[in-house]
Amino acid sequence: MVKPAHHESAEAHVTGEALYTDDLVSRFPHLLHAWPVLSPHAHALVTYLNVADALEEPGVVDTLLAADVPGEGNTGANRHDELLFPVEITYHSQPVAWVLGETLEAARLGAARVVVQFEVLPAIVTIQDAISAKSFHSGPLRIRRGDAAAAIDDAPHTLAGELSIGGQEHFYLETQCAIARYDETGGIHVESSTQHPAETQEIVARVLGIARNQVTVQCTRMGGAFGGKEVQANPYAAIAALGTWKTKRPVRVRLPRRLDMALTGKRHPFFARFRVGFDADGLLRGLDLELYSDGGWSIDLSEPVLWRALFHSDNAYLVPALDARGWVCHTHKTSQTAFRGFGGPQGMVVIEDILERIARTLRLDPHVVRERNFYSEGDVTHYGQPVKDAGRIERIWNRLKETSEFNLRRAEIARFNAAHPHCKRGLAITPAKFGISFTATFFNQAGALVLVYRDGSVQVNHGGTEMGQGLHTKIREIAAQGLGVTVDAVRVMPTRTDKVPNTSATAASAGTDLNGAAVLDACTQIRARLVPVAAEMLGCDPAAVRFAAGRVSGGSGDIDIASVLDAAYRKRIPLFAHGFYRTPEIHFDAKTATGKPFHYFAYGAAVSEVEIDGFTGAHRLLRADLLQDIGDSIVPLVDLGQIEGGFVQGAGWLTLEELVWDAQGRLATNGASTYKLPSWPEMPEVFNVAFLERATEPGVIFGSKAVGEPPLMLAISVREAIREAIAAFGCECGGPVELDSPATPERIFWAVGKARRR
Ligand code: MTE
Ligand code: HPA
Ligand code: MOS
Repeated sequence: MVKPAHHESAEAHVTGEALYTDDLVSRFPHLLHAWPVLSPHAHALVTYLNVADALEEPGVVDTLLAADVPGEGNTGANRHDELLFPVEITYHSQPVAWVLGETLEAARLGAARVVVQFEVLPAIVTIQDAISAKSFHSGPLRIRRGDAAAAIDDAPHTLAGELSIGGQEHFYLETQCAIARYDETGGIHVESSTQHPAETQEIVARVLGIARNQVTVQCTRMGGAFGGKEVQANPYAAIAALGTWKTKRPVRVRLPRRLDMALTGKRHPFFARFRVGFDADGLLRGLDLELYSDGGWSIDLSEPVLWRALFHSDNAYLVPALDARGWVCHTHKTSQTAFRGFGGPQGMVVIEDILERIARTLRLDPHVVRERNFYSEGDVTHYGQPVKDAGRIERIWNRLKETSEFNLRRAEIARFNAAHPHCKRGLAITPAKFGISFTATFFNQAGALVLVYRDGSVQVNHGGTEMGQGLHTKIREIAAQGLGVTVDAVRVMPTRTDKVPNTSATAASAGTDLNGAAVLDACTQIRARLVPVAAEMLGCDPAAVRFAAGRVSGGSGDIDIASVLDAAYRKRIPLFAHGFYRTPEIHFDAKTATGKPFHYFAYGAAVSEVEIDGFTGAHRLLRADLLQDIGDSIVPLVDLGQIEGGFVQGAGWLTLEELVWDAQGRLATNGASTYKLPSWPEMPEVFNVAFLERATEPGVIFGSKAVGEPPLMLAISVREAIREAIAAFGCECGGPVELDSPATPERIFWAVGKARRR
């Protein structure tokens, strides 16, 4: 099997030749630039709005207001709760109106001349305020198994506690961007940096009040998305399209970093409250869990995110009795959205936090309590899904303990810590089990359109989008193998709604599973049509015909695939096909909160070692060893990149990246100067990544497994290693390490102080 060494656009990425949406600007000399008029309040009524002055500004061409909307001025994907031109402002910096200018500068100056008056209303900024005011978008969502309250009351030990978990800015390198224009046929064409072109098309059509077949959305590639463009690309595409509709000219919307950070949603901050019962060995008996997510001003994807948090509040552990309830808080902040892991990481941080508290209460080692509670073959989750391949949890765990020399290093660290009063090291191992599939079952479908030309070259269209994760690279490999041509013969085309309709977002790590299977379906059909043609040409039995690397063989013959294609064409056999895939056997009933929402689980584990400076609270990540179950990798180098990148992004979320909103609901951390991102110094000094061996996943394309999101959760080991190191500042009887997330130097410093006093 010939494998492409790297991402199909790798050279273009590093030379700068890869085109992103905004790079198309120069193609439209007649293009207008859009700039928003922002609200200076988080919660207010618009009492007066006048654009007359703005229209006097040289270079300003037009403005966009509610009265300009020919269709429905609402971009909410599910609940229709996102007015494009709000009368009630519900978060700080919310756009009130947009100005169109010949230059970006003209549009900005024009926006500054729009006169708006507000009646300021009180804002709910924190989760705590929302809970007090009972300000919820949704809830309680609930998953229950057994009688958790009775199990906790009957348990030999109980603990209660709370944990706050911060959100995360996506910080994709390419900010939100769309360019709209009338195409050659009078339809609206939108180039959009979107993970979900079909939904962007739907929202543009809704706002313009036209049928979806009048709108084409194309996404060539994104400069990162991480969930931030699953729904939040839509309003900017809608504004660009509305501008085009009104002025008949191409219109560009691109948010500069500061606006992107102020306007768009983030990973949901969570607040958790729990009561847990366990026995003297640390075995879980019952757990009562309340999760509150900060949804921000609109519902967005907050419900499925919260479901995924509830689904993952077991992580890799059997919780015999569980009552987990969740609420989406309605706050006057950005509307929090999908972010790599989609609520799963928050749910998993909570259970890992609880297991550490149990271990230290019992004076047991956290890793021992963890492994005692693992799922085994035959167990089912709290929502009733059998934990298929549960044995892999222990297999990965044991293998990683060996390869990372876990026990040996624990002893070394104990010696180091005994010798260093002001500097301590911590070592932790954590597992991860992550459910693969969209939890909304209907999203688990994909389509493809494969076109084979008579010279043996191929164009592949599919519903997935490329955001750097290497989906197109894997699709190219799948199509090449599926048709029996070389990888070079296959071109993956930009994602367009006029090639494959009604597609799902590229999300839930299922891009390759879904679109890859649809592409293979199309390739299989085409190949089946070619077999009798080739058999006749080769004079062999059809069963003996083989396709590989652009050659067709059978009997003693071996011919070029182009000659077979040409012969098939002359026989009037179609050389293109559409493919389709739907994930089998998945279902979930939200009313009873039971079912089989996931096709399978992706497993992994990580060992992290950190060193903390007791004077400053600063930490260094000395070493990380990761072992991830990715089935049979289709493109190993891409998967390696996903694992490394996911882990570092997770470590950033849990240790560095802190979103701060001030009391007025303004995001104080709206740039790279105030929002600390991981860079070279935060990379682990020793970084070992391995794939689980003998891990073929039956029922998934080429035996592979999803890899996009799962590795992010391996970073929980960094947080747990920090808690280990903090504990080492105290005595052995120190008790649980309470540490809100992210583990910034301040929080670590105060936690060290607390540990020392005990
Ligand atoms: N990798 C890169 N380089 N850029 C991204 O934006 N997004 C992540 C992950 N890896 C992302 C990424 C997220 S949130 C998801 S759901 C998956 O990629 C989506 O792609 P896949 O389904 O093809 O894995
Ligand atoms: N994961 C990611 N994105 C989603 C999901 C999900 O489960 N459901 C809807 N969008
Ligand atoms: Mo990923 S959060 O499912 O886009």
